[in-house]
Amino acid sequence: MHYEAEVLPGLESFARAELATTFGDALQFHRNQPTDSLRFAYPGSLSNLLLLRTVVAIYRIEHFAVPRPRALLGHQHLQRITGRIDHIRGMHPSGSFLTFRISAAGSESAVFIRIKEAIESHTRMAYNPDDADLFIRIFPAPTEPGWEVLIRISPRPLSARGWRVCDMPGALNATAAAAMVALTEPSEDDVFYNPMCGSGTLMIERALAGPAIRIGGCDISKEALRCAAANLNGAGLAKHIELTKMDATGLDLPTDSVDVVCADLPWGQLAGSDDENLILYPAALAEWARVTRRGGRMVAITHAVRLFESLLDRLEREWQLSAEYRIFQGGLHPRIYAFRRK
Ligand SMILES: C[S@@+](CC[C@H](N)C(=O)[O-])C[C@H]1O[C@@H](n2cnc3c(N)ncnc32)[C@H](O)[C@@H]1O
Repeated sequence: MHYEAEVLPGLESFARAELATTFGDALQFHRNQPTDSLRFAYPGSLSNLLLLRTVVAIYRIEHFAVPRPRALLGHQHLQRITGRIDHIRGMHPSGSFLTFRISAAGSESAVFIRIKEAIESHTRMAYNPDDADLFIRIFPAPTEPGWEVLIRISPRPLSARGWRVCDMPGALNATAAAAMVALTEPSEDDVFYNPMCGSGTLMIERALAGPAIRIGGCDISKEALRCAAANLNGAGLAKHIELTKMDATGLDLPTDSVDVVCADLPWGQLAGSDDENLILYPAALAEWARVTRRGGRMVAITHAVRLFESLLDRLEREWQLSAEYRIFQGGLHPRIYAFRRK
């Protein structure tokens, strides 16, 4: 059984590490990987793959040794495709998949229209090219001759978390948040703090990654805090995470009291502005160094890369930069920086 993990560009190593540590030897990465995705063989239950946190989506790969997609219309091949669809639908509560869409090279051609009709008549799902529960991709196989049918194993991408009941402009992609949490090296002894918490993505992903002594966060915006509170409720974590209305440049926290600061700073587009950031960034970073104990960690993401990097010299008096990742999300290239407190 072969799968493809769709990953935010730049976060492949996190997805690879999560797959390897979660499934160990049961999972074998393909030797030939196409660019921009991570393929693997895994004989275990599909439902285990639904729990992954650093991948955007997982697709089941069906390879067909056929020269042209027309051959997929053969009875045996169609039966194999609809059988896989039935299997995936069977893993979820009934009613999870009411619509489907197909992405394919030439999806408006007569062949693909017939494939679409065959799936429609077998599954009784309605075709919706714009937004659908079941997502099927049909393309020439990238590493061997033939064609492939890829079927997403969940009705929504895994990055669209079930706990998110409140979205806000500028909310962080949850798989990027999960990768940032992994970079903090979570430990049960952590006091984890998320200044500028927005809708709560980082705090929730931290709490879901394992126990901590304390998880808390603050934001200056009442609206963001309301959104975070709704999401904490959605995740069943309202009792475990402390939310405070507070300015991240003047935290009501003792010096050296935090093990991990993890933050998504305003990028200057949807949240904040470039001018505000010129003042906000140095003040916030100085405050976070004050509250973090020696040996503590800071992981921060921002799209204001030039500004952040102009502060690196100053930061390096107190922090050792340990890693930097350039990722691609929503048409932007934000960066994640990981530091250890000197
Ligand atoms: C990029 S957003 C964070 C988004 C968040 N990671 C999420 O997933 O929803 C930045 C947040 O910083 C907050 N913020 C800006 N200036 C602040 C300050 N001085 N103190 C606290 N929060 C601040 C904004 O209100 C906004 O919610």
